[in-house]
Amino acid sequence: MPALATAVVALAPRAPRGSRPPRTTKTITSRDGVRCEVSQLAEPPAQLRFSMDADAARAVIEPAFDEDARQRCMSGDFTPALSAEDIAAARAMSPGQTEFALTYGELTYEGCTRLGEILAMGPDDVFYDLGSGLGRATIQAHLQWGVKRAVGVELSAERSAQARRAVERLEQNGQLDHSRRLDLVCANLLEGSYREATAVYLCCCCWDSTFVAQALEVLEKRAVNLRQIVTIEPLDRKFGLRPAWLTLKQETRVGQTWAPEGYPCYVYEVTR
Ligand SMILES: C[S@@+](CC[C@H](N)C(=O)[O-])C[C@H]1O[C@@H](n2cnc3c(N)ncnc32)[C@H](O)[C@@H]1O
Repeated sequence: MPALATAVVALAPRAPRGSRPPRTTKTITSRDGVRCEVSQLAEPPAQLRFSMDADAARAVIEPAFDEDARQRCMSGDFTPALSAEDIAAARAMSPGQTEFALTYGELTYEGCTRLGEILAMGPDDVFYDLGSGLGRATIQAHLQWGVKRAVGVELSAERSAQARRAVERLEQNGQLDHSRRLDLVCANLLEGSYREATAVYLCCCCWDSTFVAQALEVLEKRAVNLRQIVTIEPLDRKFGLRPAWLTLKQETRVGQTWAPEGYPCYVYEVTR
C-alpha cells in the first residue's frame, strides 16, 4: 500500500471493543499518479487532525481539489492557466502590479508542515497567507497547525473560487473543525485589516519592491497583534527594505513546488 494511504489509515483512533465508528472509503490519486483506496473516519476527532504529518495532510486535502487545480510550477507558464478576464479583473483590483505578480507556485505539503514548526503556531494564533493561491497552505494550517483562525487572501477570483470549492468539499466530508475559523477570500492583500493576525506569510518572489514595501506598511499600521512575518526573499537584499520594526530571527528553507528540496525562507520577528 503506498505511503499516502497508510498515513491516513494511521490516523484512525482505536475504537472501543465491539463498536465501529462510521468510516468512508475513497479513491485518492497521489502526486505521482498512484491511485489507492483510503478508509477514513467519517468524523475524525479534531485532536487527530492537529497531529497530521505531510502525507496525511495531502491525503485529506488533495481529493478536495478538481483535477485541473494542479498549478504547481513557478514559471510564467502557469499564469495563462487563468482566463484573460480573471487576469484583467485581478489587475484592475491591484493596478500597481504587473501580470508577473500572478505567477503561481505553492508550498509543498512538507514545506507547509515545516513552516508550521518554524512558526510554532498554537490555538491562540491567527495565520494569514497573503497571496494564498489555491488555498492549500491555508487549509493545511487549519487542519494541521490548530490555529484559532487561518485566512487566505488571493487576488485571482478563479484561484480563490477553487480554494473555496475545496473548502466546501472538506466541509461536506466533515473534515473541518468548526470550533476554529478558516476563511479564503478574494481581495487585494493591501486592503485587509489584519487586526487579529499573529503570523503572516508573504510568498513574495514575484512581487516588486514597491508592492512589498506597501504590504509591509499596511501590516505595520494595521496588524497590531502581529508577532512574525515569513517571506521567501530577503527583504533587504532582494527589495532594499530594512523595516525598523522587523528583526530577522531565522533564515531556513521550506519546500516549494518549484523547489521541493527547499527554497529560502526568512522569519522576521516584530520588534516594535
Ligand atoms: C506564488 S503564489 C503563492 C501561493 C500560496 N501562498 C502557497 O504557498 O500555497 C502567490 C499568489 O499571490 C497572489 N497575489 C499577487 N498579488 C496579490 C495581491 N495584491 N493580493 C492578493 N494576492 C495576490 C497571486 O495571484 C498568487 O496566487
